[in-house]
Amino acid sequence: MAEPTITAARIAADQLATPLLVLPGFEGEGEPTGFVAAIDARCGGALGRVVQSGDFGGRPEEALVLYPADPREGIQRVLLVGAGKRAEYNVTRLRRAVGTAVRVAERMGIAELDISLGPLPRASEAEDAFEAGVAATEAALLAAWDFRELKSTAADAPRATLTRVGLLAPEDREAGEFQRAVAHGSITARAANLARELQTRPGNQVTPAYLGERAAEMGRELGLEVTVLDRAAIEREGMKALLAVASGSAQEPRFIVIEYHGGTVGAAPVVLVGKGVTFDSGGISIKPAERMEDMKYDMSGAAAVLGALRGIAELRLPINVVGVVPAAENLPSGTAYKPGDVIGSHLGKHIEIVNTDAEGRLILADALSYVRRYHPAAVVNAATLTGACVIALGHHAIGLMGNDTGLMEEVQSAGARVGERCWPMPLWDEYRPQLDSNVADLKNAGGRPAGAITAGWFLKEFVDYPWVHLDIAGTAYTDEAAPYLRKGATGVPTRLFIEWVRARAEA
Ligand code: BES
Ligand code: MN
Ligand code: ZN
Repeated sequence: MAEPTITAARIAADQLATPLLVLPGFEGEGEPTGFVAAIDARCGGALGRVVQSGDFGGRPEEALVLYPADPREGIQRVLLVGAGKRAEYNVTRLRRAVGTAVRVAERMGIAELDISLGPLPRASEAEDAFEAGVAATEAALLAAWDFRELKSTAADAPRATLTRVGLLAPEDREAGEFQRAVAHGSITARAANLARELQTRPGNQVTPAYLGERAAEMGRELGLEVTVLDRAAIEREGMKALLAVASGSAQEPRFIVIEYHGGTVGAAPVVLVGKGVTFDSGGISIKPAERMEDMKYDMSGAAAVLGALRGIAELRLPINVVGVVPAAENLPSGTAYKPGDVIGSHLGKHIEIVNTDAEGRLILADALSYVRRYHPAAVVNAATLTGACVIALGHHAIGLMGNDTGLMEEVQSAGARVGERCWPMPLWDEYRPQLDSNVADLKNAGGRPAGAITAGWFLKEFVDYPWVHLDIAGTAYTDEAAPYLRKGATGVPTRLFIEWVRARAEA
């Protein structure tokens, strides 16, 4: 995948030469000022006339291209992108504006562009400039990303590949500040794009074994300690729930452990766990055919763990981190586990299977039990776990549950900073009886009411450390393209993971 290079520089308005200059335009503003006024002078006042005519209103996602009278002067095109009201300008608006600019460049077949970030959100604090630089970098790289490997006809090819996106630091800012932000954002966005690549690849490519190979390869490249357990090793480890889910498929399960030692030797690690169901047919409790193909995305949690470990290692964060991925394919067959079965688990609890489609919590239960050996400082897991979460929160929030309010707030605020927002759901005791079983310790499904919560409750039965569960069923992939994300895989919550770990490492 060719990705554009992001650069940061401070260039005076009269020095700038570019095929496409992107300027944020604000709602309800007249005469351009500052940098924009200087550019306007080079455009013979066209920017001012466009704004005054009302042809461009500055509303979010609005876009208008102008052609300066004399392109030999060095600015071939100016793109005004709506940024909304100046007082409401924030990093979310900035991400969307950058995404919109990348889309316009794509349609016009332009390979290079320069973006003026405009007046920075809350521009008085240095940290906000960093945050804005990261957001712009990430938005450009996320917007440009595409998976074209399996398209073989020229008609599908883009007119040009975006090769460079320049971020123009405002005149009151040091370019160095932006260069650090660009370096950081390039790593986090590429980590998310790795997750998106793994998510997007079809289930016949991305098997549990394939995930294991990709993790091992990444380990060799970055000096991570990677262990991949095959079926025999999973049996020796006693992961009976993972084996039950895998029992219907010819694809062998894998259990992947990635260790990053960036912190003090012996310091308790933070652990990231991701659901790696490489295809979820539902098993014997088979799903309807409609949209079943989307279930190739049922390894999105795993993809985010791999992406996050890559990002964390590249950022060299001073902290110990373990990434864990239980991986299996959920299919019906003569050897498949079935409703009514009672299975064992790594922890030893017995589970009555009432629905083989509630498989994610089973493989996660074994993983959450396995990681007890690390005496982790905190564990965050991500899983496309329930359709109920999609019903509850739609596609705009990750469902967040846990056993430690401080940790839940930490994760929620990390998500808010990177635009991967979470919303809490309660794991009250009153919900637990829905999992009561007549024959075993618990059932693997608790019926329709509060389906996301009972799934969370199931996981809670297997943890004995500070823990957060993220249900990403509604956010890991999307039907509707957003300005900086195409339709399909989003990489959620890769950037949340990295940001949470970064903040932990700093604390
Ligand atoms: N992978 C699905 C959840 C899912 C559904 C993710 C829609 C993304 C979009 C999960 O394994 C599942 O099938 N869950 C069941 C649980 C039920 C049987 C208790 C569900 O949500 O229907
Ligand atoms: Mn399922
Ligand atoms: Zn599933």
